Amino acid sequence: MTLRIGNLQLATNLLLAPIAGYCDVSFRLVVRSCGGVGLGCTDLLCPEGVLRETKRSLELVATCPEDSPLCMQLYGSDTDRLCEAARWAEDRGAHVIDINMGCPVDKVTKRDGGSKLLCDPDRTLRLVEKVRAVLRHTPLTAKLRLGWDDTSIVAPQLARRLEEAGVAAVTIHGRTTAMKFTGTARLEGIAAVVAAVRSIPVIGNGDVRTPQDAQHMIATTGCAGVMIGRAALSTPWLFRDTWSYLTTGTVPPEPTIEQKCQLMRDHFYNIIRFRNELIALMEFRKRVSWYARKMTPCRILRDQMRTINSVADFERVIGEFLAWRAVWDLKPKRGVMREIVESEWRP
Ligand SMILES: Cc1cc2nc3c(=O)[nH]c(=O)nc-3n(C[C@H](O)[C@H](O)[C@H](O)COP(=O)(O)O)c2cc1C
Repeated sequence: MTLRIGNLQLATNLLLAPIAGYCDVSFRLVVRSCGGVGLGCTDLLCPEGVLRETKRSLELVATCPEDSPLCMQLYGSDTDRLCEAARWAEDRGAHVIDINMGCPVDKVTKRDGGSKLLCDPDRTLRLVEKVRAVLRHTPLTAKLRLGWDDTSIVAPQLARRLEEAGVAAVTIHGRTTAMKFTGTARLEGIAAVVAAVRSIPVIGNGDVRTPQDAQHMIATTGCAGVMIGRAALSTPWLFRDTWSYLTTGTVPPEPTIEQKCQLMRDHFYNIIRFRNELIALMEFRKRVSWYARKMTPCRILRDQMRTINSVADFERVIGEFLAWRAVWDLKPKRGVMREIVESEWRP
């Protein structure tokens, strides 16, 4: 069940996906604290930005010893810049360096980066060979989609050639670029990549929302690991659950409402630690809706969190929500308490 990427042995075969704007160090630490994460990853990084060490790039690569092991993901198509940025990431302590070959966003593909790399495999191979050659000890990986569209499914052949070029693992998101995030991830597409490579691990990705989804992906495709993205935003303990399910067949009890609130607190104070209070407040006005998905009924939490202006407001909203949930948990059947609960009363 464990996974090795080049010289790096991971504790589990579950990887936290890069999600630009969401999976920064503050959030990665929350997910890691729940357990089960084999590898975390930065958001995609622009080589020019990291080489100039712009404020934004340094925020994106921010990490700390507990945020380990960590993959740093680069995007772009300029070979020289990518080589320099890969060396920069290696010097900054990246445990794995990944090249993004899956981003469908115009801003990235118009400059021939992201999933545009799928459109010219020969050129992509030359680029990867050069980046591989400049790295001294850090494994290089690639994160792909199936192809640009249904008429150009290149992932199996490309993955095989990437392996020959020295890539230590590939992650395959089972969608084409044209699909963006619509439809469902195609397990048969992931299986074709697994069948195409000789011995490197293939990590399957797309639409894994439960431990059972992860097991189904592994069983159906033969992939060596699973990468999970969006579902982690509302369920940071999904890696813990999935690892338990894969290794013991059982899923631990769901965290209590107090534990879920503590995860929100940890996340909030991490943002203050790595950024600042204002950003934590702005971020949580949005992020609360992800956490709230696993905290139903949650209108009070959502509505109140959207108005926070200070750390004291943040703590007050959590305190009030917990007090209200304590009443709700009594599940009064009728009478005034029932009316209170139905009106989502606030203490
Ligand atoms: C808002 C958003 C941002 C993303 N940013 C990145 C990124 O920076 N790098 C990357 O390789 N993939 C990125 N992805 C794709 C995810 O890593 C993942 O491949 C995709 O969401 C499918 O997995 P999931 O269904 O588990 O979320 C992003 C996805 C979303 C929705």
